[in-house]
Amino acid sequence: MRFDRVVKGGNVVTPGGEFTGDIGIVGEKIAALGDDLDTAGADVIDAAGHHVIPGVLDVHVHLELPFCGTVSADDYLSGTRAGARGGVTTVIDFAIPSAEGSLSEAADTWMKKAEGKSLIDYTFHICITRYNEHKDQIAGMVKRGFTTFKEFMIYESEGWQSDDRALFGTLEQMKQHGTMLLVHAESSRVLDELIARHHTPELMKQHGAVLHAITRPNFIEAEAIQRVVQWSEATGGQLYIVHMSTAEGADIIRAAQNRGVPVVAETCVQYLVLDDSVFAGKDGHLYACCPQLKKPADSARLWRGLNTGEVSVISTDTCTFTREQKAMWEGDWTRIPMGMPGLETLMPVTYTKGVLEGRITLPQMCAKLSTNPAKIMGLAPRKGSIAIGADADLAIIHPTRTHRVDPSTMETNADWSPYDGWELAGFSRTTLSRGEVIVNDYKVVGKAGRGQWLPRTSAGLAGARA
Ligand code: URP
Ligand code: ZN
Ligand code: ZN
Repeated sequence: MRFDRVVKGGNVVTPGGEFTGDIGIVGEKIAALGDDLDTAGADVIDAAGHHVIPGVLDVHVHLELPFCGTVSADDYLSGTRAGARGGVTTVIDFAIPSAEGSLSEAADTWMKKAEGKSLIDYTFHICITRYNEHKDQIAGMVKRGFTTFKEFMIYESEGWQSDDRALFGTLEQMKQHGTMLLVHAESSRVLDELIARHHTPELMKQHGAVLHAITRPNFIEAEAIQRVVQWSEATGGQLYIVHMSTAEGADIIRAAQNRGVPVVAETCVQYLVLDDSVFAGKDGHLYACCPQLKKPADSARLWRGLNTGEVSVISTDTCTFTREQKAMWEGDWTRIPMGMPGLETLMPVTYTKGVLEGRITLPQMCAKLSTNPAKIMGLAPRKGSIAIGADADLAIIHPTRTHRVDPSTMETNADWSPYDGWELAGFSRTTLSRGEVIVNDYKVVGKAGRGQWLPRTSAGLAGARA
């Protein structure tokens, strides 16, 4: 067999196990896996001494998002270049309707943000923000190729908040269409009360950004997860909890899965490796995101959940704000633009803190960053695994070579990083997207706009507890 490209001699991670050998690529697809593939006429990429892993899917990003009175600073140009450096070959963003807009208009708006800019493949979760208007538009969006929807249990001031009626009704429709609802689970009314009680000049002076943690005890997330899990159980609608940050959340998901509720959970890498002690630092406000970073015991429970199956996916919730944007807070934590950069460091942090420090294995990392998200989001078997017939989306990483995180040399538009100064292995030496080299020798070489929208016909939880 003739190949256009052969990735030669790496430690290849496949769903069936690891082997040292070659990957043959024809056009955009993986055409063969083997010991010593024919390289005649092929472009050969030497992967000896490296791991060859499936391209990462970051299924939770917000690029160029109007939010908190500003617009998130990484767009499809910088965000997808950043992702590619960390081996990310697919992103899923959230298309959020404008004040009076339909679901379809939201998808059009996000399509325009990505077109001509995205280096890697992409699609969107469709956000339902006004259930009464949007509920009859869901079927049309499924026909258009969108199979994952999203509701927020907070963010009333943004006009995004869903109530129990919306959650319940949307989950009923998810059951009907075989699609899935993603939920940002935090308990808005109690949160409002705790914020109001603490929103005084004296307390803000005394505690600064620490108030973000003080006003969000773990039960804020746990109660909301419990409630929406109840609606999933009652309706049979598939549910995906985004950015789960608490030990209590992991316990609830485990118990629900054990009684057959169709629910899975994602955490973000920052909840695994950072904790809320950062808020007390000089730059504490930079780390503010919703939900906020929790305690080391929560991180430990989430790592355990990755091992035992109740945490299926690791993502980033990339929502980048620069120092200047974060300075909008002026000492009031309720005005901090909420979110952090993450695409460029997702795999390096997971690999270094997870695999190299023995918390998860390399195949487990590939399951949580690639295979599970692809399956759950309806992108398998095209994405997420090194297998014959799949897109040739690959990352080639050195097992131990580290790079120091330095925002001034990175692709993100962020001028800071939560991991500034960390020595991380797992940056991608070579990234291939649909057979094309887009990162070579750790530098982005692919062209903006080559990324494609990925239509989907399903979404599902089957097989995603690995
Ligand atoms: O703080 C965050 N997470 N910003 C992005 C919006 C969201 O809730 O995911
Ligand atoms: Zn959220
Ligand atoms: Zn988010």
